[in-house]
Amino acid sequence: MTRRTSAAIPNGDVMPDLEALFHEVFPRGRGEIVATRAPGRVNLIGEHTDYNEGFVLPVAVDREVHVLAQRRPDDRVVVYSANFSRRATFELDALGLSARQSWINYPQGVADALQRAGHHLPGMNVILWGNVPLGAGMSSSAAVEIACMLAFRHLAGLLPDARADIILAQRAENSFVGVQTGIMDQFISRLGREGHALLLDCRSLDYWPIPMVLPDIELCVVHSGVPRGLASSEYNKRREECAEGVALLQAYLPHITALRDVSLGEFALVEHHLPDVIRRRCRHVISEDARVGAAAEALRRGDLKTLGVLFAQSHASMRDDYEITVAAVDTLVELARAHGARASRMTGGGFGGCTINLVPSMHVDAFEHAISLEYPALTGCTPVFYRCRAVDGAGLALVS
Ligand code: GLA
Repeated sequence: MTRRTSAAIPNGDVMPDLEALFHEVFPRGRGEIVATRAPGRVNLIGEHTDYNEGFVLPVAVDREVHVLAQRRPDDRVVVYSANFSRRATFELDALGLSARQSWINYPQGVADALQRAGHHLPGMNVILWGNVPLGAGMSSSAAVEIACMLAFRHLAGLLPDARADIILAQRAENSFVGVQTGIMDQFISRLGREGHALLLDCRSLDYWPIPMVLPDIELCVVHSGVPRGLASSEYNKRREECAEGVALLQAYLPHITALRDVSLGEFALVEHHLPDVIRRRCRHVISEDARVGAAAEALRRGDLKTLGVLFAQSHASMRDDYEITVAAVDTLVELARAHGARASRMTGGGFGGCTINLVPSMHVDAFEHAISLEYPALTGCTPVFYRCRAVDGAGLALVS
């Protein structure tokens, strides 16, 4: 399997010897070293449904963040980024957002969430390395949060608790980093399963692993080369529009508390009461929720044809109703379909980022070749290809 490295990842794609590096960076450290890993993700379908308490169908993929950590005798956390070759420090009793070294805000947010939940954290030396592409919509931040969460929890002497990890990691992102994301990314990074997608109910947090029985099909992620610039402000705006939709719909459907509660049939009866933009935002979320259920069934059956139809409907809905795609990403999806992808759509938060493509193994080389020639000519952007495997969610091991 060949991979091209994203220019966005400093220091390349191949994991350095983190244990040797740890001893080099922290030569005076003593005691047990804990090693954790947490994967990035690609969402098969179910976009912007998680914060509407609906359904998603993500896969944890073999692009991961690794953390090595050891207690230290004071209240300080020293984090060394092996990607950036930089060190940053924070004090556990004086946490605050760093504008200069934004990568440190994720470990800080995790420490903050754990402390606010009433846990006592020790000082720690930490090394962080990852090959989840940054800003691509593959959830590098959730992978950092979950890998840190497992390591910090262990060094604090807390028992494993996957549900708490997920909720607190989301809180780190929402309350500390300040992006109002849903729960999908932290969930799949923590609980993903090898060879499976997870059908996740974002209200109850119940989940069902769905085997990816698609013989001779590869999961090809293509980065559009468009950085997700507007992503957080537009993301928060979409959330507000959905909340407005719920408030307006409650006049006609008093039982609902989230868009998740509205069926397509009910929506058809009342949608004319809504202003156009809000109507289209709601239509995306409600129809996307229905597509997730249908896609999970199709995946279970290995029904690639139906998946292709559902992916196409999802992309059109994100483009026309939710308005979160950009022209280059639309072009990338069209090219993918023309060059062998049996299913293709934008994946993740939107405004740039990646597409997810189901491509017959025998066509993958030709698919990548054709897109690397035609996509830059049409858009001026450079694609980056990631052939992905569905892997297990986060894990922990002791190094010494
Ligand atoms: C981002 C968020 C997720 C989810 C997706 C859109 O990845 O972190 O919670 O809302 O966008 O589906």
